[in-house]
Amino acid sequence: MELRIGMVGAGYAAHLRARAIRTLASDQLRAAAVTSRDPGRGGRLAEELGVPYFASPEQLYAAGKVNAVCIAVPNRLHVRMVRQALERGMHVLCEYPLALEDYRQAESLVRLAERRGLALHVGQTMNYDADHRFLLEHREELGRLYLGYKYMSFGALGSWYAQDGFSGDYRGLGSWYVEDHARGGWIVSSHYHGIQIFRRVFGEVESVAALDSTADGVSAGSVLLRHRGGAGTSIQWGMPMQGQPFNKTIVSGSEGSVEVESGRYVLAVGGRREQGELPAVDTFVEDLKVLVEELEGRRDAAAERADMLRNLRVTMTAERAAAERRVLKVAD
Ligand SMILES: NC(=O)c1ccc[n+]([C@@H]2O[C@H](COP(=O)([O-])OP(=O)(O)OC[C@H]3O[C@@H](n4cnc5c(N)ncnc54)[C@H](OP(=O)(O)O)[C@@H]3O)[C@@H](O)[C@H]2O)c1
Repeated sequence: MELRIGMVGAGYAAHLRARAIRTLASDQLRAAAVTSRDPGRGGRLAEELGVPYFASPEQLYAAGKVNAVCIAVPNRLHVRMVRQALERGMHVLCEYPLALEDYRQAESLVRLAERRGLALHVGQTMNYDADHRFLLEHREELGRLYLGYKYMSFGALGSWYAQDGFSGDYRGLGSWYVEDHARGGWIVSSHYHGIQIFRRVFGEVESVAALDSTADGVSAGSVLLRHRGGAGTSIQWGMPMQGQPFNKTIVSGSEGSVEVESGRYVLAVGGRREQGELPAVDTFVEDLKVLVEELEGRRDAAAERADMLRNLRVTMTAERAAAERRVLKVAD
């Protein structure tokens, strides 16, 4: 099967995804069109890829040039656009999160894709980033794991998203990302990956507590996860502070600890202490390789989707825990 992929959206993620598609272009997949409301931005990406530009997904579908789409638009639009694509018989690659508030919407999209025999892959790019791979590779050496900690500084994250307007002041961010209605809650929109990493390293999450202290245009808060087996992990986010890392993760166990931060690591096990730099990884390429393996039947696509749904369920439960200010069990 060859996926002829139409890019829906021409922003930050669409560019990274389009470049990954070009890197891996083969008999299995290639970029075939771009749609964006902005002919300038969309046209430039289409030109870069050597494919036609369309002003809307409807025009794209009517032209019959694609059998797959990559949905890379603000979070709030994912459910509607993914459903529309599946109903048109398109295979779908959607940037995370598949749904924002109602977990059942995500389940129903998965069921729709399965009923129609269509691929539905959600980008879980940070599963493949160098820091998190290093954690996974070394967790066995750490003995019994008892602590996981992640800190993310949102000023820096904002600068990723503020394509047009980042002024160094979070409040000056010119992006849909600062609009609650487009983004959804901070946990589901920004800590989806962190929660997934801790699920992969520590095992399934049983219960969550969270505090979202976002106020006056400054986002800050904490998520606490209790994993099966009793280990606890926490994710904290806030404004960039002098000397604070952008995205740092620490995992400790009975035999040692690992610290990773943007491609640098410190591993301390027994009396041994190593530190160094990790080779850069294009997470969008790695995530796309997973889709190719799914298409070739070398990877269990249903298991990938089930894991994605579970991650969404934990993430949404954390969002609810923050809203209700209580500890919640994650439903099975
Ligand atoms: N996996 C990752 O590491 C990662 C990283 C970044 C983002 N993401 C995900 O990728 C998605 C897009 O984020 P981004 O950073 O690429 O955002 P972005 O740079 O702002 O791009 C968003 C795109 O969606 C289009 N769009 C905006 N509002 C729209 C509307 N109302 N109707 C139709 N299209 C609309 C935009 O406009 P035009 O139609 O004008 O082109 C633009 O092309 C998000 O879901 C985000 O969570 C994933």
